[in-house]
Amino acid sequence: MLFVWFLLQLWFLQGCVCEFPFKSYYDSTLADLMSINETYSGPLLSPFNKTRVPGSKGSKEVQEFVLDEFKSMNQNWAVELQNFEENGYEFTNMIFSLGSNDSYLALAAHYDSKLEPDGFIGGIDSAAPCAMLLYLSHFIDDVITEDLSVIDPTLLGQFTGVKIIFFDGEEAFKEWTSTDSLYGSRHAAAKWEKDGTLDKMDLFVLLDLLGGKESITVPNYTKAARAFYKNLLQIERTYNKFYGASDKIFQSSVSNNIRISDDQEPFFTRGVKTLHLIPFPFPSSWHTLADDYAHLDEKHIHKWCIIMCEFIIKYWNPDKVPLHPFKPVIQEITS
Ligand SMILES: *[C@@H]1O[C@H](CO)[C@@H](O)[C@H](O)[C@H]1NC(C)=O
Ligand SMILES: *[C@@H]1O[C@H](CO)[C@@H](O)[C@H](O)[C@H]1NC(C)=O
Ligand SMILES: *[C@@H]1O[C@H](CO)[C@@H](O)[C@H](O)[C@H]1NC(C)=O
Ligand SMILES: *[C@@H]1O[C@H](CO)[C@@H](O)[C@H](O)[C@H]1NC(C)=O
Ligand SMILES: [Zn+2]
Repeated sequence: MLFVWFLLQLWFLQGCVCEFPFKSYYDSTLADLMSINETYSGPLLSPFNKTRVPGSKGSKEVQEFVLDEFKSMNQNWAVELQNFEENGYEFTNMIFSLGSNDSYLALAAHYDSKLEPDGFIGGIDSAAPCAMLLYLSHFIDDVITEDLSVIDPTLLGQFTGVKIIFFDGEEAFKEWTSTDSLYGSRHAAAKWEKDGTLDKMDLFVLLDLLGGKESITVPNYTKAARAFYKNLLQIERTYNKFYGASDKIFQSSVSNNIRISDDQEPFFTRGVKTLHLIPFPFPSSWHTLADDYAHLDEKHIHKWCIIMCEFIIKYWNPDKVPLHPFKPVIQEITS
């Protein structure tokens, strides 16, 4: 009897190791929403394929697209627009909240593009990360809408709240200095420190320079993020096994004590736990005209989407993931 039980356990565990509970969700939605090749990009990616300098027409178009995207979701996401002026430029941070504001996970990327060189698109910096944020938002929205009744009421058992943040003005207009860079994140962190919003932020995750063709390593930059980094390591291992991939973005042997100046900095210096998902060294296309859509990579983009969806599920279920690997999953998503 004990032996049979043991065998069952083994079988169950094995099922867990090689299966993602939402695999068919990923397979059916990624192909549509996040596809990309040399000449075509899917509906969540293509709107960012333009210059997005703060205050410009391209920036406004992207804002409208992102706002419409959240309006189209099932849940009633709260919208916060932070408009401000600095250095003669107009900036707009876009923040979308779901659930509680008293304890929440923050997921962020910057949607502005660099003023120079002229025509700079910023495919990995950060068009693709912004599209990934939208994909994650749809995922959260669908899981909360459908999953609670369809799959398992405990799947998001510890879901409290989430804020999806699109920062403006990450890039410097001239030389990168402490006053010419990080306009949006400096503004948001200062405002939220004053009104108490920052105290309720449990973890700040920043996606940057992701989705390109070059293979990358993302080290763990902070002690406070160790446990979360470990989760990413494990999820990637499962992903690689299951999808037949071999590149290792996360590596426990790589320990990095450098700090890269980016949108996590105004939060990190105020004591927020930050998980900075940026490769080091930077991809060679960084801040050149080569950082365009022709140099984005579908496989990498899809991998990041899946890893981050699994990360989010695990974040809200630290003790019991993966859950019910063989249950049905949601087939549809509205967009
Ligand atoms: C990106 O935009 C450029 C310019 O409009 C276009 O030529 C190119 O096909 C687009 N690339 C993708 C992958 O969508
Ligand atoms: C790119 O994808 C589009 C849409 O799926 C397809 O019509 C087109 O043939 C593809 N182009 C290449 C070069 O693979
Ligand atoms: C959370 O904060 C946002 C932005 O300030 C606000 O619009 C929203 O109503 C708040 N949500 C709850 C549940 O209080
Ligand atoms: C980050 O986390 C990894 C694995 O959890 C650990 O090996 C590494 O030492 C950590 N890095 C820092 C800077 O704390
Ligand atoms: Zn940049």
